[in-house]
Amino acid sequence: MSSQVRIGLAGFGIVGQGLTSILTGSAQWIERRLGRPVAVHAVALRDPHKQRAVPIPDGARVVSNPLELAQDPDIDIVVELMGGLGMAYDLIRLALASGKHVVTANKHLLAERGEELFALAAQKGVGLYYEASVCGGIPIVQTLKESLAGNRILAVTGILNGTSNFILSRMSSKGLTYQAALKKAQKKGYAEADPTLDVEGFDAAHKLVLLIRLAYGHDYPLNKLPVTGITGVTPLDIAYAKEFGCQVKLIGQAKMVDGRIMAGVHPMMLSQSYLLAQVHGAFNAVRVVGDAVGAVMLYGQGAGGLPTGSAVLADIMDLARDGAAPNNTGFPEKMLPPADILPPEEECSRRYFRFNVEDKPGVLAALAQALGDVGISIYQVVQKVDPSAPDSNIVPIVFMTHQAKQRDVEKALENIRAMPFVKAEPVHLRVL
Ligand SMILES: NC(=O)c1ccc[n+]([C@@H]2O[C@H](COP(=O)([O-])OP(=O)(O)OC[C@H]3O[C@@H](n4cnc5c(N)ncnc54)[C@H](OP(=O)(O)O)[C@@H]3O)[C@@H](O)[C@H]2O)c1
Repeated sequence: MSSQVRIGLAGFGIVGQGLTSILTGSAQWIERRLGRPVAVHAVALRDPHKQRAVPIPDGARVVSNPLELAQDPDIDIVVELMGGLGMAYDLIRLALASGKHVVTANKHLLAERGEELFALAAQKGVGLYYEASVCGGIPIVQTLKESLAGNRILAVTGILNGTSNFILSRMSSKGLTYQAALKKAQKKGYAEADPTLDVEGFDAAHKLVLLIRLAYGHDYPLNKLPVTGITGVTPLDIAYAKEFGCQVKLIGQAKMVDGRIMAGVHPMMLSQSYLLAQVHGAFNAVRVVGDAVGAVMLYGQGAGGLPTGSAVLADIMDLARDGAAPNNTGFPEKMLPPADILPPEEECSRRYFRFNVEDKPGVLAALAQALGDVGISIYQVVQKVDPSAPDSNIVPIVFMTHQAKQRDVEKALENIRAMPFVKAEPVHLRVL
């Protein structure tokens, strides 16, 4: 690399502008840390006339085609901050093939096509760094790749999506419905007009697949990951959670069970006493348990221009430090082996069930029997009038159970749905 670190920036939106602000505002500090300055050599803009809160850096060449960045001999590192799976893929592929380092925040692309892109980066001996793609400003990629490298990772558990966490926090603190809390999130700019990726758990799933690679050194295909979003979570279930001393959070978790990886993204109940239950609003947190280190937890802003820009800049600076070969996945293999996945029906966790049933004799016993028939052991039962419908003949009956296998849960639900006194689709949540 030259006396300057010259980056080519594709994507001048929230994160691109956040990165640029830091580069401009902290230029001297960055130069002192690195021993040389970081300069934006070129920026790819779709619309050069669009008003932007942050000016294009002085001296940066403006190009209209992002692919030009990949082939510009004066660029050391291509920074992809456009998002999406189309042009972003073409740019990263071409940049890696041209022997350039790449820094990206694009978890969706890496979760879908990471296997191929990391293999190409390894073949070319260049860096494909992505700290910003998992929980924005939280340095979890570096932590797993480097700081905890000597640990066998027993579990990674996180609140990986700020939008969902904001919505669930509002539902819990203000008693809002899901729809009302979503509107609030959209008004505050935490949720997009189409919030599907966030609220259906897909964004968290993208991040979890990347965390699994880093923690276990295995490829876990995105389409094999069990994912449930938060759209079915109701204020009633959040109120019951509180009665049990719990919060409801969208949790992404991967852990080793009998040498196989058990992973998924689901809304879960977790005890108020857990640190993860104290993570409110749009914040993210990741808890890692290593065999030597024990539990480590990172907490911070999972989105926003400056926090995410901070993570992008860390990757740029890391790649700009000449010396060791790039460490993309944390493992020396060119292709990571496929994960040995615990079949989803074998997944085991404590459960919360709510059944809306006719209020008549024998119902409670029949439900308990249906759970017992498949070997699910009950820990606690609550039956009381739904405060929102005090005169109704339909009442919720809630069960907390001991550890139950997903296969048994599904069988019990199938049997219970068929019972004539069950008047609504049963609700069930995992308990962390
Ligand atoms: N926002 C966050 O807090 C955050 C956090 C973590 C990770 N990320 C990831 O960071 C990436 C960028 O997110 P963002 O929030 O900064 O997005 P954004 O605000 O929508 O900005 C995207 C930028 O990319 C440009 N762009 C899109 N497609 C393009 C194309 N085909 N050619 C040229 N330019 C193109 C857009 O141009 P125009 O300005 O012309 O529209 C815009 O400047 C995404 O992968 C996202 O998942 C974001």
